[in-house]
Amino acid sequence: MNPNVRPESMERITTLAQANAFIEEQVKLVREQVGDKKVLLALSGGVDSSVVAALLIRAIGKQLVCVHVNHGLMRKGESEQVIEVFGKALDANLIYVDATDRFLDLLAGVSDPEKKRKIIGGEFIKVFDEEAAKLEGIDFLAQGTIYPDILESIKAAESGKPVKSHHNVGGLPEDMKMELVEPVKLLFKDEVRVVGEALGLPHGMVYRQPFPGPGLGVRCLGAITRDRLHALREADAILREEFDNAGLAGKVWQYFIAIPDVKSVGVRNEMRYEGWPAIIRAVNTTDAMSATIEEIPYALLHKITDRITHEVEGINRVLYDLTPKPIGTIEWE
Ligand code: XMP
Repeated sequence: MNPNVRPESMERITTLAQANAFIEEQVKLVREQVGDKKVLLALSGGVDSSVVAALLIRAIGKQLVCVHVNHGLMRKGESEQVIEVFGKALDANLIYVDATDRFLDLLAGVSDPEKKRKIIGGEFIKVFDEEAAKLEGIDFLAQGTIYPDILESIKAAESGKPVKSHHNVGGLPEDMKMELVEPVKLLFKDEVRVVGEALGLPHGMVYRQPFPGPGLGVRCLGAITRDRLHALREADAILREEFDNAGLAGKVWQYFIAIPDVKSVGVRNEMRYEGWPAIIRAVNTTDAMSATIEEIPYALLHKITDRITHEVEGINRVLYDLTPKPIGTIEWE
């Protein structure tokens, strides 16, 4: 039996009872695999790595070492939530690395999206590698691989070139000589979420919308600057808050702000005020291969526009992107 193929007899996990049975089984398997050895995990705070972390904490407690690398391109409050949930509530063995300056210094002046992705992915591996080298006696590497990742890599290997280099930040060096622990690799995303709920992770973490590995780096368009990145993070937080309040958070597949490196003339307090436009993108899709535009009520768009232009320094316009995929991709870069 190929361990990377989901058996046809495997039931779809939709209930907490099924999730609990799955957790119990995985706890047993992980304990058998790992024994008293240590396991390393890159914990981004995304659904998959968070569920793997919570599962492994349950199975092996402090034998799990989580490393959270803050590349400075996280959304508002995300790294703080990782520290809160894993460092404090679950009392995990958590190493937090603030590598913001390293990433932003390397990215300064780089405007090509693929170069940006490569720098972010490459630097992530370097930082993670450095942290791993400081640790002793680690024999296992845990990963939040899920079944679509396995299916996608089979497809990518069979077909031609992808449109964008979608390496997740979390793609780890191949020369790391550690055995893999991948407890959710046969699960689909919706099943991972049910398992996350059964493990008691916060709802917002379990039902988090997809967020690209390079983070806000591919939404701060062109060459990233700290001031525009700051404006992006604040505007994005307002958008998320308002979508949450309007009950749209669970209904819209992905919604975010992108800010181009362009300024326009505006007026604030009767004075000329040059600023960037914030572009709202809100899309629905089932597989991210094509996407349609969510119809957001005008009143909500007005409210978001009002808040962003008044509360975020440097932004003087808000635009709504009506382009489906194709012809646009979901992200702007
Ligand atoms: P596009 O922009 O290609 O995006 O229509 C499809 C989905 O993939 C996400 N995305 C990425 N995810 N690393 C990732 O892990 C990346 O470099 C990357 N680029 C895009 C995007 O957010 C959307 O969900």
